[in-house]
This record gives sequence, structure tokens and C-alpha cells, in this order.
Amino acid sequence: MDATRYPNLHISRHPLVDHKLSLLRDRTTEPKRFRELVRELSWLLGYEAMADLTTQPITIETPLEQMAGAELEPKVGLVPVLRAGLGMVDAMLELMPSAEVWHIGLYRDERSLKPVEYYNKLPDAATVQVCLILDPMLATGGSSAATVDILKAWGAARIKQVSLIAAPEGIATLSTAHPDVDIHVAAVDRALNERGYIVPGLGDAGDRQFGTFAGPSSEPGHDPADETAEVVRRLQRNLAGES
Ligand code: PRP
Ligand code: URA
Repeated sequence: MDATRYPNLHISRHPLVDHKLSLLRDRTTEPKRFRELVRELSWLLGYEAMADLTTQPITIETPLEQMAGAELEPKVGLVPVLRAGLGMVDAMLELMPSAEVWHIGLYRDERSLKPVEYYNKLPDAATVQVCLILDPMLATGGSSAATVDILKAWGAARIKQVSLIAAPEGIATLSTAHPDVDIHVAAVDRALNERGYIVPGLGDAGDRQFGTFAGPSSEPGHDPADETAEVVRRLQRNLAGES
């Protein structure tokens, strides 16, 4: 993918991110270690994603004298997308203990790959200026674009997406729908497969965090539904500029 087409895309270059992401992808990494790595990677990506937040001057007293200090200006909201985004919250709260946390529940319909909303308790008017959407996987981009729609309707002035792995198709979808949204990722992978999974990816981020490997319907690598494969082909045509 030509990343220069997307000025809003920020791919981490930190060696610790590369190292931890490789451990995370490894199929032998167990849920406990997987959760730890999601947390560690979230901390590193969060640090980078917050680098352009504004501060305002304040006066503070050290034990020795008064000086000009700084405090974060915008009120920040963390928006984990259930379920998989939950694992990213604690690290972000360590970085910004005063952030508000607003959960959005979405799951991806397995056939249409469209997001289905099932939880949203946002109050009527926005209570924060900057929202960080937390979701480890940006695959078709449908869940992310839907979350941005919700947050914009709520009145959020600025929105950033923080994900561990993105597919080119998802970046194209989100950037086209919402070019004003910054996208911070640890890596952009090759493509989506016919089931809408990111390859090489890491599999199902929710299942790997929470140990829920119950059945074929939630695992990649099974017979692809025709409908799903067609959705992916359409996204890939869009990405290639064929409309
Ligand atoms: C995963 C992931 C994203 C979504 C990404 O969630 O956490 O929310 O898929 O896919 P998209 O970009 O194609 O929309 P999933 O639907 O598996 O739900 P879960 O987190 O509850 O497992
Ligand atoms: N959701 C995941 O958890 N993994 C993918 O590869 C795509 C969507």
C-alpha cells in the first residue's frame, strides 16, 4: 500500500512496537501473554497518538520556587469498541488518568461484514473534545467508520483511531469516509482474506484476548461465505481505484 496517499495515517516506527507486535502475532502466544502485549502496545501507540495534544500554561510551585508549567488542554474521551478494544483501555488510562471512557458495542456481521451496534450509552451532548477510538483491528474499516459516525453525531470535535493492525482496505474506507480522522497503527498488513480477516494479521483479536475459541463461526480459515468474499472483492476494487 502506498502510505503517502494517506496523510492522516501514522505507522509506528518504534522498535519496541515491532518486537512486541511479532510476539502478539505468534499463534503460540497464550491469552494471558496476549493481553499483556495488547496493553504494552497500547501504551506505546497511545504515547505517539497523543503527541499533538495541546497544553495550556499553568503556574506551579516547586518546593523551591514558582514556575510556568503546563496542563493538557482538551478533555479526552477513550472509546473502546467492544469487545476487543477493552484490552487497550487500562494502558491509555495510565497515560491519561483523567480521561473519560465511553464504550461502544459493535460486532461485525459474519456474512455482510457490516457493523451491528449493540451498546451505546453516550449522553446527549459531547462531554469531551478529543476522542480516541480503541480497537486492535481495522479490517474492512466498517466498525471504525460507524464509530466515527456515532462520535461526530455526538459532537466530538476531534477523533483519532488507535489500532494495532490495519488492512489497506480498512484504511481506504475510513480515510475516504472521514479524512479528518488520524489513524495510528503499529502495522499495515498485506490485505484482507476472503473471510474479511487481516493477513498475515493475528487472527481474531477478541477471541485471542478472552480465550473464546468456541466454534468455526468465529475462526478464520473455514469455508468462505460467497457474500463475504464479494464484500472483500468490492473493497479491494475500491482500494485499487476501480470504484
Ligand atoms: C473485530 C475488531 C473490530 C472489527 C474490525 O471485532 O475488534 O471491532 O472486528 O473489523 P472491521 O474493520 O471489518 O469492521 P468483532 O466484530 O470480531 O467483535 P469482538 O471484538 O466482539 O470479537
Ligand atoms: N477482526 C479481528 O479480530 N481480526 C481480523 O483479522 C479482522 C477483524
